[in-house]
Amino acid sequence: MMHFTSVQDVPDLQQLVDAALAYKADPYKDENLGKRKRIGMLFLNPSMRTRLSTQVAAQQLGMEAVVFNVGSEGWALEFEEEAIMSGTTVEHVKDAAPIMGKYFDILCIRTFPSLKNKEDDYSELYIRQFMKYAGIPIVSLESATLHPLQSLTDIITMQEYMRQPSKAAAFSGRKPKVVLTWAPHVKPLPQCVANSFAQWVNAWGEADFVITHPEDYELSEAFTKGARIEYNQEEALKDADFVYVKNWSTFTDYGKIYNNDPEWMLTNEKLALTNEARVMHCLPVRRNVELSDEILDGPNSLVTTQAGNRVWAAQAVLASILRAK
Ligand code: CP
Repeated sequence: MMHFTSVQDVPDLQQLVDAALAYKADPYKDENLGKRKRIGMLFLNPSMRTRLSTQVAAQQLGMEAVVFNVGSEGWALEFEEEAIMSGTTVEHVKDAAPIMGKYFDILCIRTFPSLKNKEDDYSELYIRQFMKYAGIPIVSLESATLHPLQSLTDIITMQEYMRQPSKAAAFSGRKPKVVLTWAPHVKPLPQCVANSFAQWVNAWGEADFVITHPEDYELSEAFTKGARIEYNQEEALKDADFVYVKNWSTFTDYGKIYNNDPEWMLTNEKLALTNEARVMHCLPVRRNVELSDEILDGPNSLVTTQAGNRVWAAQAVLASILRAK
């Protein structure tokens, strides 16, 4: 693997999941693979899990991780080609990225969408410009439209649950029902976690996959094609094995909130419709807005296990890139 920005960069998804679970079983088995190698981690936006899990993963491979909060501490970067830089931007990515390519062996970047201009956001200009100019492998720590390290983690977490000796028989010979449900939120959020989850579940190909959301919250078909769309949340939840909860803003009329109906929040009453589903969320989560205390603190919540698995996903990705270099 050369870059890691979407599932399309992954030659063998199952091999990557298995590699991640092998690191979970033995975190230091490749502790010299990244010896004398360095990753740069650029954050144009905030993070807790992605930053810490990727740093831990790099260190377990023997790498040195350097974090740069470029969004708050660096020069304001310009990404447009042929820009006349008479405004607020100070340094062009064309100048900055090749320098980072000299300092690091792998460059990781987090860059959120503006939610103002769909064409710009969905062109993934920022991450494409780093890929064009850095000259080293690029890893997305969440981009304008996708969050691949999160989605790899999500597939790992579902497979890990299904492989437990006490659960394996229940999943033998059938696909799990996986439901991605929209949830309310107080402000417009990107579509990237939902897009990415849909893209990875579709690529996995081993789930009966349903997406439920209010009307007019359709995601891009480029990611959802293959999933069943169901506007009735309770209908969608019936017999689910996994429920992935996430808010996203509108895609078609871009970046808006049309609906903040608290009825869409998952509760134990709704969970009773499922096949004792495990509940997932990428975090951070707004409690009792997006997801109820009773679910998050209840026995069906996988969110802490899921967040813990971010380390193994990052470690498998970094190892795969190191081996390909
Ligand atoms: N899920 C996730 O990406 O968490 P952070 O924003 O804290 O990195």
